[in-house]
Formats: sequence, C-alpha cells, structure tokens
Amino acid sequence: MKKVLIGIVVFLVLIQLIPIDRTNKPVDPKQNFVEVLKTPKDVTEMLKNACYDCHSNEVKYPSYAYIAPISWSIKHHVNEGKENVNFSEWMTYNKDQKEHVLDEVIETIERKEMPFKGYIPMHPEADLTDAQRKILIDYFKGLQKSGQY
Ligand code: HEC
Repeated sequence: MKKVLIGIVVFLVLIQLIPIDRTNKPVDPKQNFVEVLKTPKDVTEMLKNACYDCHSNEVKYPSYAYIAPISWSIKHHVNEGKENVNFSEWMTYNKDQKEHVLDEVIETIERKEMPFKGYIPMHPEADLTDAQRKILIDYFKGLQKSGQY
C-alpha cells in the first residue's frame, strides 16, 4: 500500500515536468472580431468574461492551470475551443465559415451549451444571466441581418 502511494506521488511530481504552452499568439487588430466589427462595450465585456478563455488569443490561464494533469485538460479545451471559434482570427474566416460561426454562437448561447459548463464554477463572471444571453443573441442576430461581418 505504501509503495503504491509513493508511486502515485512520484508520478504526480514527474508529470509536472511536462508543462503546457501558455503563450498567446499576438492579436492582430485587423483580424480581431471586436475591433473589426466595432462591437459595443457591454457585448465585448461579456465575450471576454465568458468566451475568450477558450475562443481567442487572449487566454488567461488560472493558477491551477500550472498543475498537471489539470493543465493538460485545460489546454485540450482551449485548443478544441479555438479550433471551433477564434474571435481573434475572425477575418481569416471566409464568408461561409463566418455564417456558420454566427449560427453556432447564437445556438450555443440560446441552448446554454456555452460557456462550457465545467468553466463556470471557477469563473462566476461567465455565468451569464438570461438578460445577458439575450443581449448577446440580439447582437449576433443583428450582425446576421446587417450582413456586415
Ligand atoms: C472553458 C472553455 C470554453 C469557454 C469559456 C467557452 N467555450 Fe465554446 N467551446 C469550447 C470547446 C471545448 C468546444 C468544442 C467542443 C464542444 O463543442 O463542446 C467549444 C465549441 C464552441 C462552439 C462550436 C459548437 C459547435 O457545435 O460547433 C461555439 C459556437 C462556441 N463554443 C461558442 C462559445 C461562446 C459564444 C462562448 C461564450 C459565451 C464559449 N463558447 C465559451 C470551450 C469553451
């Protein structure tokens, strides 16, 4: 029993030697969603609070993101999130991709699938109220209608 415990401790110590890459790519204002589209301040703030940690190049890693294996799990979610939607690289999307992302963003906010459930307990500011969700949805629907994106 003692050997098993020592084994687990050694394992946990050793895996700390495999850190994650926490560097953010620089944000180009010419590609950045909120700058290109001049997103209103309140909407920008909600996106930053609730979405940016997985869908932008402005990811803020919490202190527990330094501890393996939690760090690996966080990095995995960030990578997966950015693959789906990266607001910092908005202008690299073609028209079809943008339309698809706008649809998906509205849908995931409406259905409360986003922000990612496991994220909310540690980030109360991401726990969007129904009123906040409505503001976001109205904004993204407005973009769809205007065709200016
Ligand atoms: C803690 C990380 C995290 C946060 C915060 C987060 N997401 Fe996600 N998001 C993910 C991951 C991981 C995926 C891909 C896997 C999935 O679909 O569940 C994803 C997928 C998506 C998709 C694609 C869904 C699909 O079905 O194609 C959209 C759109 C999206 N997120 C929007 C948002 C919006 C809008 C916010 C803020 C209100 C947000 N996300 C906050 C991690 C996150």
